[in-house]
Order: sequence, then structure tokens, then C-alpha cells
Amino acid sequence: MLDLKQYEAVNWNKPTSDLAKVFWDQQWKQMWQPEEIAVSKDIKQWKDFEHQDTYKKVFGGLTLLDTVQTNIGMNEIAKYNNDLQEKAVLTVFGSFEAIHAKSYSYIFTTLCNNDEIDAVFEWVKKNEFLQYKANRISDVYLAIKEDDDESLWKAMFASVMLESFLFYSGFFYPLYLGGQGTLRNSAEVISLILRDESIHGVAIGFFAQNLFRKFSPEKQDELKVWGYELLLDLYQNEMKYTEDIYAETGLSPEVKAYVRYNANKALMNLGLDTMFPEEEVNPIVMNGIRNEGSTYDFFSQKGSTYALAKVQPITDDTFNFNFLEK
Ligand SMILES: [Fe+2]
Ligand SMILES: [Fe+2]
Repeated sequence: MLDLKQYEAVNWNKPTSDLAKVFWDQQWKQMWQPEEIAVSKDIKQWKDFEHQDTYKKVFGGLTLLDTVQTNIGMNEIAKYNNDLQEKAVLTVFGSFEAIHAKSYSYIFTTLCNNDEIDAVFEWVKKNEFLQYKANRISDVYLAIKEDDDESLWKAMFASVMLESFLFYSGFFYPLYLGGQGTLRNSAEVISLILRDESIHGVAIGFFAQNLFRKFSPEKQDELKVWGYELLLDLYQNEMKYTEDIYAETGLSPEVKAYVRYNANKALMNLGLDTMFPEEEVNPIVMNGIRNEGSTYDFFSQKGSTYALAKVQPITDDTFNFNFLEK
């Protein structure tokens, strides 16, 4: 006789997790594909663009983080989260991470030749600061144990670090340029990615907070110390990464301020006290985000250069396939 394990079916009729359905609905409302953005309109500006090297490295770095988030982050956290609704939400988030990772390739294909693209992907493998953050975060993801809330919380913490903090050294550049009318369509792709990351950071931060409440005060203190230590370690690495890739642009100090601003946001998503003093973030980057209708505004519309949405609005007839029988 087989020793059968009893599998449970996900039941969306009975709420098991606060807000899981809200996050699910919002993520699907934001469905997008990179090919819907007319990145080819950036080609003319790209040809004369002074800091192509920085731009390519920024996108190479973002590609790696989204690859890790697709293949390891969302998979591992979804696998070990025992709430079936949250598991489903995390699986959907994982699909969007795969879209993000693919969208940078779409930008590369549009702007660069094959040799240049190969060189970027080689650089990704060799950049020590980039590899350090990928390793540091992945190690936490891969350490989750079955039915162990502590290692699951740690992985959620690491995920929020990635989504709400570490992406922003990269997001800065396209937003900074796009906000001034340079390579605006590529920036539009980034603003759509950023809008997804904003939900992911809030949702996983929220799931983490629910777990955190179950721990004893002593355990909570211990986990907080662990978390701030990880953040500081990632922060120090991020400062070096920023100096490395932005060296030729002179933008490092402004990128660093933006990174600190987002490290605080990540902590807030996790319900923890912020760490860095408030400071001014470059207004072009902040305005760029708002104009593109993204960051922390959950219910924003897709941005101004979102080409496909303008072609044909979705109506009841969109799903009427009777014409096939005619
Ligand atoms: Fe992503
Ligand atoms: Fe994400």
C-alpha cells in the first residue's frame, strides 16, 4: 500500500491570507510585454549617446538580478510558503520577473549589435560587486527549510532588499535620462518594471510582516539584527558597485542618495525602522517616476508611450470569437 500524502487544493473562496487576492488582481491588471514599447524610437539618440558603456552595464546588472529573482527567488519562496493563495501570488510574480529579465534583452537587441551584447553578458559574469549581491541574496533564498518560518522570513527579507533597494542603483540611470528626454522609450520599459517591483516589495514585505508577528520578542530582535547586518553588507557593496559603473558619468553621489532612499523604503515595506537620514533625491528621477505613472502609485495607468494600449481599447467584443464560424 502506497503511503499517500494528503495534498490540499487552493481554495480562493475562503480567504487564507490578507490581501493575497488584492496583490493578485493588481499584478494582472498591470500585464505588459516589452515589445509593446517602441524602443526603436531611441536608436537615433543612442547612436550619439556619450555613456553607452555605463548604460549597457546598468542593464546587464538589472538583467542578472531579474534572472535570479525569476529562477531562485520567487521559486524558492513560493515553494516553501505554506499558504496556498500566497504561493499562487508569488508564482505570478515569478512570471513577471521573467518578463522583466527578457525586456532588457529586447532593449539590447534594439540598440546594440551582437558583439556588444555578448560583451555585456560576459561583463555580468565577471563583475565582482554584481556577483557578490547575486550570491548574497541567492544564498538566503537557497537556505529556506521546510516548515520553518524563520528561514522563510529571512528569504522574504532578502527578496524585499532585492526588489525595493538593490534594483535602484540601476533604475536611476534610465529614469534620470528619460526624465530629460533622452532614451525615453527605454526608460518607459524601466518604469513598467519599477511599477511591478513596487507591488512585489509591498506584497512580500506584507507577507513577511505577518510571519514576523508570530515570533517571540527575543526571536524578533535576533532577526532584526540579522536583517540590518545583511542590509549594511549589501549597502557597502552597492556603494562600490555604483562607483564602478557610474565612474565616467560623475553621477555616483546622486545614485547613492537614491539607493539610500530606497533602502529606507525597503525597510518600511518590512515594517522596520528606516536606517538612513532623509536627504534630497534628484528631482528629475523622482519626477520622471511620477510622470511615468509608476513607483508607489498602485493604481496608475500605463505610461505615455505605451503604444499598444492606444491602438484598440478592450471591450466586451474583444472576447467575442463568433467571427471564426462565419
Ligand atoms: Fe523584476
Ligand atoms: Fe520583483
